[in-house]
Amino acid sequence: MKTTIVLLGPPGAGKGTQGEKLTDEFGYTRLSTGDMLREAVRNGTELGKKAKEYMDSGALVPNDLIINLMKEKIAGIKGGVLLDGFPRTVEQADALAEQLDVDLALNFDVADEELVQRLTQRRSCPNCNAVYHLVTKKPAKDGVCDKCGAELYQRDDDKEATVRNRLEVYRKNTMPLIDYYKKKGTLVTIEGTGDINKIFEQVKKAIQ
Ligand code: AP5
Repeated sequence: MKTTIVLLGPPGAGKGTQGEKLTDEFGYTRLSTGDMLREAVRNGTELGKKAKEYMDSGALVPNDLIINLMKEKIAGIKGGVLLDGFPRTVEQADALAEQLDVDLALNFDVADEELVQRLTQRRSCPNCNAVYHLVTKKPAKDGVCDKCGAELYQRDDDKEATVRNRLEVYRKNTMPLIDYYKKKGTLVTIEGTGDINKIFEQVKKAIQ
């Protein structure tokens, strides 16, 4: 079984959704830079104060902040790890390669209009970071997290104009990582549209 997995793909491709399922079923530690940054913003830490304006506009947070953050987090990990939202630039991927060998880069391919629809209708849990969708993955009780009972919210960067900017930023800065991992022989691309559980079957095959 693969032990160091990078989840790649545009905003809304299902990295969090499939990562959560992998963690629940196989016990991977999931490190999501987006979740860490949102927590830092909520707690008003130095990192949060520096990251907020980039995140609100859909831009990437500067590489040095992210690389320092992840270096520290990765150093404490034992066992299988899922990296969700990191690396997002070639500079971040090079920094990661100095610390860890990536076994598998799992890339989710989804069309832009589907991504916009998904993100504008996403609802997130501020407490346990579970993700829902108003149509395709509704919580059992409206507005309440199934897992921990917290009140769900809409992320500030899930408004349509910001989502479209995030897609541009993805194309310019993160898409080159598809070739980066293809050259290393670790890339597997999965069609990320359709039933969440059927996609998870493909994910399970890829990690074997
Ligand atoms: P981050 O939180 O990482 O956002 P993202 O990459 O844009 O990814 P998302 O969380 O939006 O999408 P996802 O692929 O996880 O999709 P999900 O499973 O939720 O980053 C946010 C910001 O932080 C960045 O913009 C940047 O500013 C900063 N940042 C983070 N990392 C950084 C880094 N390394 N460097 C610099 N800056 C960084 O699914 C989306 C929705 O679709 C949900 O509602 C879900 O229920 C639904 N859904 C999922 N699968 C399906 C399906 N098959 N069919 C229908 N609906 C589905």
